[in-house]
Amino acid sequence: MQDIIEALEAKRAHARLGGGEKRIETQHAKGKLTARERLDVLLDPGSFEEYGMFVAHRSHDFGMEKQIIPGDGVVTGWGTINGRQVYVFSQDFTVFGGSLSETHAQKICKIMDLAVQNGAPIIGLNDSGGARIQEGVASLGGYAEVFWRNARASGAVPQISVIMGPCAGGAVYSPAMTDFIYMVRDTSYMFVTGPDVVKTVTNEVVTAEELGGATTHTQKSSVADAAFDNDIETLMEVRRLVDFLPLSATAELPNLPTDDAFDRREDSLDTIIPDSANVPYDMHEIVTKLADDGEFLEIQREHAGNILTGFVRLDGDTVGVVANQPMVLAGCLDIASSKKAARFVRFCDAFNIPILTLVDVPGFLPGVAQEYGGIIKHGAKLLFAYAQATVPKVTVITRKAYGGAYDVMASKHIRADVNYAWPSAEIAVMGAKGAAEILYRSELGDAEKIAQRTKDYEDRFANPFVAAERGFIDDVIMPHNTRRRVIRAFSTLKNKRAQVPVKKHDNIPL
Ligand code: HXC
Repeated sequence: MQDIIEALEAKRAHARLGGGEKRIETQHAKGKLTARERLDVLLDPGSFEEYGMFVAHRSHDFGMEKQIIPGDGVVTGWGTINGRQVYVFSQDFTVFGGSLSETHAQKICKIMDLAVQNGAPIIGLNDSGGARIQEGVASLGGYAEVFWRNARASGAVPQISVIMGPCAGGAVYSPAMTDFIYMVRDTSYMFVTGPDVVKTVTNEVVTAEELGGATTHTQKSSVADAAFDNDIETLMEVRRLVDFLPLSATAELPNLPTDDAFDRREDSLDTIIPDSANVPYDMHEIVTKLADDGEFLEIQREHAGNILTGFVRLDGDTVGVVANQPMVLAGCLDIASSKKAARFVRFCDAFNIPILTLVDVPGFLPGVAQEYGGIIKHGAKLLFAYAQATVPKVTVITRKAYGGAYDVMASKHIRADVNYAWPSAEIAVMGAKGAAEILYRSELGDAEKIAQRTKDYEDRFANPFVAAERGFIDDVIMPHNTRRRVIRAFSTLKNKRAQVPVKKHDNIPL
């Protein structure tokens, strides 16, 4: 028996070496960890259970029958993150460049199926040269099997993609269908066609980093949700993200007990709104002052800074935050911010995460580029997402809530559950000066008269009380008590039941 056990140990050791010492050295020289080292960082120590260590490809073309490496370029299985179960796959670039063969795909599909069946997140660590060139269409079929499962798992279990090396061609579409994409700066890139093809087709000269590096995707394209400096930092941030998420659409939300009192007063909020409506302030400050222990995990921080999206905990419970940011474009809604927030709202709704909306919005951004770019349809995404979301929704208007943007930003009318305003709130069709200039166009030459008209409009509408009189605002609250009021509001909504009409699915304006 002992010799059989030793043989198994030797087989395992061989499999663990992947593509061998030399390729591991090359991987390290690029500043990258190996597939297994990454799982060691991602998962709780000793929690990883590997499936499919001895799976081998079945290809006989191009001499592949002589190159069998157990595991076939991807390490799969499950483990825990702070004690909570997750399914993982980690592509091994040292084995055929992490390329995806038919069997490699089957290993990924197996753990995706288990994740959906058992209600646990799927985390994919991507580091691959794409389709296994020696296998041709078998590999393409393998990709499509993964894609189909991504769509099927969407909304059932959280799916997180971590790009830790190349991810090119059709391979990008698996991450693109998952809920979150994290990238590693300088060592990862994603594109549909690489710099050489781009040069041939469009004559544009661009580096891989410029075309599809972490900066491009977190700032410009918004394909990625966040980027970090190295493998370890990125994986630690994935752990942090998972801590906020439920394991599946039917699982309980996680609760992290805190010493931060639910009724903590935050007197500094009483003075955060500047005297002039045109002076910005940092909405991050409000978010972190409301959150347990000041912790805010921001999603898409580097893109569309005029809206903030991310997770906080309130009295231990995960809450999704959407907040206009007056520091960028005065907090206007535009194409990019509408898309960013709509996607976030839909994620929260799919996974029963309550949504806190903080409103300071002067309207939609005017401009030819916005109209040509389809702001109507993109703005409608956010409106649709909020209107359709049945999770508990609590809204606090801190300052401006003008025009259509007032309706969009989780107003009472699109079924937010509890709507509060600070005394500094201005809920109106538009800003007072613009309103006076339209209503009293004939007096435009007389600055004094217009100033008086503006003041009259301000006195009447630049406050939360007209909306409060109609019940559109449930209460005008003291800024320093916002944390307590919001937490108590969410506590009343824990058993919320919402009716939705019978349908196959909605038709969000894509
Ligand atoms: C098989 C591959 C491979 C692939 C890399 N390798 N990509 N083997 N199929 N797709 C192997 C290499 O032969 C090499 O083997 C090892 O992996 C490391 O590759 P290097 O080129 O030495 O590494 P590096 O210089 O870091 O370059 C990495 C790379 C490059 C940029 C990814 O390898 C590359 O361009 N690969 C081809 C990419 C590609 O065209 N893929 C197909 C795209 S189409 P040895 O034995 O020397 O270590 C696609 C369609 C998907 O993916 C469709 C889905 C619907």
